[in-house]
Amino acid sequence: MLRRLHPHQPESFAFTPANQAWAEAQITKYPEGRQASAIIPLFWRAHEQEGWLTRPAIESIADMLGMAYIRALEVATFYFQFKLAPTGTVAHIQICGTTSCMICGAEDLVSVCKERISPEPLALSADGKFSWEEVECIGACSNAPVAQIGKDYYEDLTVESLNRILDELDAGRVPTPGPQNGRFTSEPLAGITSLTEGERVESANASVARALDLGDTVKRIDGTEVPILTPWLDGAAKKPKSERADGKPVSSRLGKAPLDEKSATIPAEKAGQKPAQPEAAAAAVEPEADAAAQSAAKPEVTPEAKATPAPDGTPEPVPAGEATRPAALQAAREGGADDLKRIKGVGPKMEQVCNELGFYHFDQIAAWTPAEVAWVDDNLAGFKGRVTRDNWVEQARQLAAGEDTEFSKRVDKGDVY
Ligand code: FES
Repeated sequence: MLRRLHPHQPESFAFTPANQAWAEAQITKYPEGRQASAIIPLFWRAHEQEGWLTRPAIESIADMLGMAYIRALEVATFYFQFKLAPTGTVAHIQICGTTSCMICGAEDLVSVCKERISPEPLALSADGKFSWEEVECIGACSNAPVAQIGKDYYEDLTVESLNRILDELDAGRVPTPGPQNGRFTSEPLAGITSLTEGERVESANASVARALDLGDTVKRIDGTEVPILTPWLDGAAKKPKSERADGKPVSSRLGKAPLDEKSATIPAEKAGQKPAQPEAAAAAVEPEADAAAQSAAKPEVTPEAKATPAPDGTPEPVPAGEATRPAALQAAREGGADDLKRIKGVGPKMEQVCNELGFYHFDQIAAWTPAEVAWVDDNLAGFKGRVTRDNWVEQARQLAAGEDTEFSKRVDKGDVY
């Protein structure tokens, strides 16, 4: 296919301030003289911000990277993932048309798009809200037929479910991604026949729950959805993006830690305190003898307190997911911490990370809600996703109840550590 720039281009392009700061940080990832290597992430950011890759964006990024425009154009026109024409302001529907999806009904889905959006792919609907195209296999063949919308997959689609999804999007709502026929993942339609233990509800799908929590399923990325961290920059990991971008602390990834009735707990932030990252939280979790006194000295932060305007009068926004941080302890309860290494997936280093975050006991982990699991999964520096992957909550439930797991038996026998 011949890929050309669209005949109608905007006058100019500029990253949003947050995306600009992110882009500048990305460039620092590469050795001196190799800054052009950042072109694809920068293009993608511009693409997500604008919905397509415009000529001013291509040239602006080429300028940022010190590249000749023709070199940047070569990259932009090579990759089909970069749309060179405007896409729907609400959603661009990508229907997989490869073998599995084709034999499971992709052609019917394409017919829906032709009827409801535009007879031709990569053309806007009459109201400009939607566009569509057929794409090659997107790797979810076991849930065919599949469509990618924004950053999410909608699977096990039918004509009816695709129509419903388009209705939802048209009404300004974000439909729940994932399988649309009641399946949780790609298990047999009649239900799982093995590995039947554990929680298997939609909300336990961390990525789906996260996307729904953030409400960013089809949202254009403007750099405000979640803080963008650049841990390779000296000290940057300890600062929220906004602080680096404009010098003002704006948000914290650490949410409020609700008071634990069983013991003293750590508030995630103090009113007026600078935003904290997990490392900062670890520093705040210094065990103290008088936990109750500590709790009193660090009152729980209320939503009102968090909304207290900064000295310059700028209200401090509450970031998405802030309220989902699990309750944490200042120190292990009397009798000492549980051996969290008895949980499969928690080694010595991970145990230390957990303790630093205020998690010392099986019953704490056993009580995590899916949203709290998502928070922890997202805040385990260097260990993202471990809680879900190894189903800590179920393991912790058993261990808190005094039961053994196959893994804990091996730990107890000294076979593991
Ligand atoms: S064939 Fe459609 S996702 Fe693979």
